[in-house]
Amino acid sequence: MHKVNFVFTKKFKVALTYNVKPEEDPAFKSHSQHAYSIDKDEYAEWDTYETIHAIRDALSIYNDVTLVEADNNCFESFRQLKPDIVFNISEGKNGISREAQIPAILDMLEIPYTGSDPLTLSTCLDKGRTKEILTFHKIPTPKFQVVKTIEQLKNFELNFPVIYKPLQEGSSKGIFDSSVVDDFFELKEKIGIHIERYNQPVIVEEFLSGREFTVALLGNGEETKVLPIVEMRFDEFPEELNPIYSYEAKWIYDTPEKPLNIYNCPADLDKALEEKIKSTVLNTYNILNCKDWSRIDVRLDSNGVPNIIEVNPLPGVLPNPDNNSCYPKAARTAGLDYSTTLNMVLLSAMRRYGMQ
Ligand SMILES: Nc1ncnc2c1ncn2[C@@H]1O[C@H](COP(=O)(O)OP(=O)(O)OP(=O)(O)O)[C@@H](O)[C@H]1O
Ligand SMILES: [Mg+2]
Repeated sequence: MHKVNFVFTKKFKVALTYNVKPEEDPAFKSHSQHAYSIDKDEYAEWDTYETIHAIRDALSIYNDVTLVEADNNCFESFRQLKPDIVFNISEGKNGISREAQIPAILDMLEIPYTGSDPLTLSTCLDKGRTKEILTFHKIPTPKFQVVKTIEQLKNFELNFPVIYKPLQEGSSKGIFDSSVVDDFFELKEKIGIHIERYNQPVIVEEFLSGREFTVALLGNGEETKVLPIVEMRFDEFPEELNPIYSYEAKWIYDTPEKPLNIYNCPADLDKALEEKIKSTVLNTYNILNCKDWSRIDVRLDSNGVPNIIEVNPLPGVLPNPDNNSCYPKAARTAGLDYSTTLNMVLLSAMRRYGMQ
């Protein structure tokens, strides 16, 4: 692991903005038995204090860092604090604007921030819109249908098996082992329940049974780095589970005490496939105007062609390697430790704003 010594042009005032999981609050804990159960995936995307503090500590090596919770008072906090730049990991709350809320506020206040702008964040949160754009640009992505009401299933034309997921979620929220479906009647029944439960449309996609990868990208323009590719090896998976990276796989079977051994980084790839995956994710990153960093999920179709599953412009960065957080895992394989990686994200944003 090589330590990069950064040269920031001065000590900047950095605000780290975040949403903390409610179960981190002692009052919440006393009312709940277990933070991660099937019916408690509501705040799956929010962060723990372990992550928030690890990021703060990493950024504090070079700059002055203040925590700003992305709550209803944050507009005033930013106005008073006047940070030089905001390191944004806030996932926001309420609907499709949620990831865009902090960047939109910061655009209004003319405060620079790390990561993508409101348009990219909202677009990528809507898996259907993202796939429409990718399809226009001829980037392979599984065939799909967005279903707002059960009646729309009468035009159903996809080949089984399919996988259904909430249209606008992340962190495997609403994607369970049972989300892979083989027949139409089962699909119809399950989708009705899902639309109601998650209060949003469902996206149904043809199921790609090939190898799965996730790819971390860092930087902008010509300098964008594709970090070593992570493969999820489903042959190492508990036998009773479908070969998908479901909520159960991510949050129940994979714990720091007993980590799932399904990740292979760097993935074992022949040169041609590696180049194809890299060019596909890089094109996707640029087409969607991703900034500074992102993690892009890829799966091979039956012809071995890399297809884009989804784009995460606010990648999770859990600090403990045993948590198998894929962005830090890819960075570590590239020789970049946790603090180096986060400071590189900050530097990318500063360069973009002409601050470096
Ligand atoms: N069309 C598909 N074919 C095969 N598997 C799929 C497909 N779509 C999703 N999956 C499986 O479901 C998993 C979760 O899907 P997806 O990445 O869309 O959800 P997410 O909750 O947004 O993920 P993240 O945690 O990365 O934000 C994928 O990692 C993959 O294993
Ligand atoms: Mg994903």
